[in-house]
Amino acid sequence: MSVGLDDVRARDAADPLRAYRDRFVVPEGLIYLDGNSLGVLPRATIARQRAVVTEEWGTSLIRSWNDHGWIDAPQRVGAKIARLIGARPHEVIVADSVSVNLFKLIVSAATLSPERPVLLSESGNFHTDLHIASGAAELVPGMRLEVVQRAQLNERIGSDTNLLLLTHVHFKAGYRFDMAEVTARAHAAGARTLWDLSHSVGAVPLHLNRDGAELAVGCGYKYLNGGPGAPAFLYVAEHLQDRLVSPLRGWMGHAAPFAFTDDYVPAPGITRFLAGTPSILALSGLESGVDAFDGVEMDALWAKSIALFDLFAARVAERCPELICISPAEPEHRGSHISFRHPHAFEICQALIADGVIGDFRAPDVIRFGLTPLYLGHEDVWQAVERMRTILESGRWREERFAVRGKVT
Ligand SMILES: Cc1ncc(COP(=O)(O)O)c(C=O)c1O
Repeated sequence: MSVGLDDVRARDAADPLRAYRDRFVVPEGLIYLDGNSLGVLPRATIARQRAVVTEEWGTSLIRSWNDHGWIDAPQRVGAKIARLIGARPHEVIVADSVSVNLFKLIVSAATLSPERPVLLSESGNFHTDLHIASGAAELVPGMRLEVVQRAQLNERIGSDTNLLLLTHVHFKAGYRFDMAEVTARAHAAGARTLWDLSHSVGAVPLHLNRDGAELAVGCGYKYLNGGPGAPAFLYVAEHLQDRLVSPLRGWMGHAAPFAFTDDYVPAPGITRFLAGTPSILALSGLESGVDAFDGVEMDALWAKSIALFDLFAARVAERCPELICISPAEPEHRGSHISFRHPHAFEICQALIADGVIGDFRAPDVIRFGLTPLYLGHEDVWQAVERMRTILESGRWREERFAVRGKVT
């Protein structure tokens, strides 16, 4: 049965997460379906950034490293992220970018078990993961990267597999691996897993400890709303922490950074995965983004994500049947975005943006919409599909200006 405007308004009125939208700046009239690329600005970040700049940096200056807890910020914010991913507070630290953290964990894990020469990943994984893995493989003697189709992964895992490097929720179609099952399969073969949680954290319930995950990285600027270029995080299960040594032996990961010794002694625990001085402005942005999840249960978030996805899929099937949904229908197999295929995906995406509906184009022919339950309502989804219907029906996307490609697509 067709869902009407009154229905979606009633769903929003009954939504237990509705009040959380006020924690964010959502520009009036804009339907923002890109929180899985760059999350919106949390209101608290504005005051927090001002305080960090004017009071902490501006007034307390270098004393802030101790007096305002700057030096502990990577561990402090990591501990807050740990709650969202089902890890213990001391197993997560904020540092660098996902790409750099991948490098640190791949090289350290590969070095730990040099008798297993294969880093295994899937073709079509996010490209930075494959690029970093290929560079890491070249640097560790004897190591090589093998990339196979998803369907071949299970049969390929074997006694030569060192590390299985997978993105938990696929960036394009949104396919989600069963973390517990894949991890158990890897462990049965004596291999380890490294999960990229960039499209999972802050959206999908995660239970890294329960599922036996040993290594993971994730993004701060998507669902965590940490701001453009926010630092990333990494997770190392407690039992592995003191066995791994980061290849980027920076002073912030040293056991005694202010002893200024020539010799490198890794800090105990997760701190050894820091390299250089953390960016405090960026970290404080991430911290208020993560704090916006205070009081939110991931299961409630996920239940709303499912409702938004199902509404989106049903409305598109009814109103825009020329778009082919490529995301899995079953909630347990997907993340919190929905993607469609169309030969003119780029132009349609641009026309939508011009009409106040922001989604993403992913080459060559995919339009992707992020569903962020903290600040999106059912009416947003409903209206977005209506605007898409208008664009498709009128053929407005054929205007020349919608074919112009910027550096970032
Ligand atoms: C799955 C995945 N991994 C990694 C990245 C890139 O992370 P970073 O820019 O922090 O290296 C992205 C960015 O969109 C991503 O989607």
